[in-house]
Amino acid sequence: MEIQLWREILDPYSLAVDELVVKFSHIIEEYRNVGAYSPIELVTGRVKTISSILEKSQKKNISLDDIEEAIDDIAGIRIICQFVQDIYKVVDIIRLRSDMTIKSEKDYIEDRKMSGYRSYHITVYYDVETLKGTRKLQVEIQIRTLAMNFWATIEHSLQYKYKQNMPEHIRERLTSAAEAILILDREMSVVRDEIMDAQNSFTIKANIVADILTNIQNLYKVANKQDVIKIQDEFFRIYQVGDTDELEKFNKDLDLLSQRYRAQSLR
Ligand code: GTP
Ligand code: MG
Repeated sequence: MEIQLWREILDPYSLAVDELVVKFSHIIEEYRNVGAYSPIELVTGRVKTISSILEKSQKKNISLDDIEEAIDDIAGIRIICQFVQDIYKVVDIIRLRSDMTIKSEKDYIEDRKMSGYRSYHITVYYDVETLKGTRKLQVEIQIRTLAMNFWATIEHSLQYKYKQNMPEHIRERLTSAAEAILILDREMSVVRDEIMDAQNSFTIKANIVADILTNIQNLYKVANKQDVIKIQDEFFRIYQVGDTDELEKFNKDLDLLSQRYRAQSLR
């Protein structure tokens, strides 16, 4: 095939990769803008090189006319997460999107490969607009943790170096490294739960504080000013100690006090 033709074939894939990297990166932005934890840590993308397409079509006996149909990873997106749970969150996000439709999914985390490889793969159809009209393209999305990515990158380099002849002792090392990565991901998952708990209790506390301040403000309109100032000082004291239960109890007392004033004004 002439180089000009390759460019024509590959250019829409390059557009798809660029667009998707922007879109997935903006998901990170959306989470961070509301102060929330993003399940996506990092997004990268690439278009398969011509030599790699030729190599794959030779190996799988694919004629050049069929490559776009038969090779589903000409466009590739890699989404890196911190924790295994985040991967399934990202899968849910992808399932709900209206700008891509899922062709197939493979969960190599539940069913890890013989090599020790773990990742979640989704092949989607994605439309790009070209001068010749709309083109529906296949894009392979690989979703994995930082730890899985570390292992896969090293293993890929070694595979490349040794081709079919990887020495047995290196294969064994990679297998035990895959085991270590699995344990690392599990340990980190426990930490993730702690982080989520911390975030959660942070929100709960912020809501109680907002409630208390509203209550104090309302009391200021109806109660004795000196008393309200005393209440406010008491709030600062409890706030500085930082105990959420104490704050909650204090807020309940304020609720009762407010109710009493309301009842009085109705009399
Ligand atoms: P392909 O012909 O490669 O598309 O195989 P497939 O259609 O069975 O897809 P599969 O989901 O198994 O693999 C697709 C991609 O996942 C590969 O191109 C690699 O990027 C990655 N991958 C799969 N298995 C391994 C592995 O054992 N080691 C590493 N490092 N990467 C892997
Ligand atoms: Mg594939």
